[in-house]
Amino acid sequence: MTMGNNSIPALLGGPKINPDKPFRFNSAIGAEEAAAVQEVIASKELSGFIASPGEPFWGGPKVRMLQDMFCQHFGVKHAVAVNSATSGLHCAMMATGIGPGDEVITSPYSMSATSTTVLMTGAVPIFADIEADTFGLDPISVEANITPQTKAICAVNIFGHPARLTELRAIADKHGLLLIEDNSQAPDAIHQGRKTGTIGHMGIFSFNRHKTMQSGEGGIVITDHPSLFEKMALFRNHGEAVVDAMGIEDIVNTAGLNLRMTEMEAAVAIEQFKKLSRLNSERIALAKRLDFALAGIDGLISPKVVEGDQHVYYMYVMKFDEATVGMPRELFAEAMLAEGLFIRAGYLRPNYLEPLYQKKICFGSSGFPFTANPRGDALRYYKGLCPTCERLQEREIIITAIMQPPQTEEDMDLWADGAQKVIAARDQLLQRWKAA
Ligand SMILES: Cc1ncc(COP(=O)(O)O)c(C=O)c1O
Repeated sequence: MTMGNNSIPALLGGPKINPDKPFRFNSAIGAEEAAAVQEVIASKELSGFIASPGEPFWGGPKVRMLQDMFCQHFGVKHAVAVNSATSGLHCAMMATGIGPGDEVITSPYSMSATSTTVLMTGAVPIFADIEADTFGLDPISVEANITPQTKAICAVNIFGHPARLTELRAIADKHGLLLIEDNSQAPDAIHQGRKTGTIGHMGIFSFNRHKTMQSGEGGIVITDHPSLFEKMALFRNHGEAVVDAMGIEDIVNTAGLNLRMTEMEAAVAIEQFKKLSRLNSERIALAKRLDFALAGIDGLISPKVVEGDQHVYYMYVMKFDEATVGMPRELFAEAMLAEGLFIRAGYLRPNYLEPLYQKKICFGSSGFPFTANPRGDALRYYKGLCPTCERLQEREIIITAIMQPPQTEEDMDLWADGAQKVIAARDQLLQRWKAA
């Protein structure tokens, strides 16, 4: 069969289907953010925090305004703005009161901070498997992993879709555990009529540069529980220096850090938060367009959205069925990239396969905090621990982020056309792949 010039894959020397429009991340920083930062600069008060008792312990006006806006929007009593979601997770973990010997059940399919912040308390993460369609914690696996040492569950609303939070909360309540939601990737997602971040006891949001709303760096934790709020606020701002003067008797986990958000970051985050609903709507519309464009392509399965849930598409995560597509996932991804189309084969390796867990080296070199766990050598992080997660990562998942502005509907169609072009040329591509 002879191929027209345009149908020769770029990987085999043909013309790129997308020669001149590289993928661009969210660019929704504009005049509003610039003016808000300028206002802070003009005030000359770039941070409102001081680590001593009194009003400045709680931060400056922009930080407080951001916290108030989150409380109002999410219908919660408290919010703690911090300099990253990693810091927010760290605050949340410390607020649970956990320490050496304790366990937190969490997902292995997340950015590494979800589990390292458990280690930072002296407790250890226990990795439960995830669900094949929404990639959130599998409640059955969670329950099977509960031990007398378990103190909390940390669910991750990964890629913008809620985990099965109602069931996970019921499990947490049944066993007297706290449920923490790492909601870094899912601001304003909905699970069965409720906003993610509010179903657990604490919900963490990220404002890093890749997130739907961003302030360069930044994050926030929301909670309805005054005692958790107090612990987080202490940990954010050198709690050790203020507890006695503030009349706080329970000093567990109050040796704090400096995790404070600046007034500039808060100013940007406020402006971005005002745009969040629009930013999400734009992503959802583009994702739906991509769903439509991919509908006729066998073997590329669009993201599942559970009935009653709202996905907010931090990433657009497809399942790749190698047998149906007729070529390896890695070859497909390589060919798409050569066409100038943004794609990634897999996300991150399951966290427990990182050297940290494989070698059990964290604080110093003697194995703490793993050595503090009463399971001893039975505490293992081995290949095969979470088979669904491993299968998804190694074979089934492909990811793109093109469903975010400034990309357009035409870019969605072009991405699908590119996928069709690559699949149509699979025999030629496979020949090269086998020869390589
Ligand atoms: C699920 C998840 N948790 C935590 C984090 C950490 O966020 P930050 O970069 O704000 O510390 C990220 C960031 O990518 C994330 O995606």
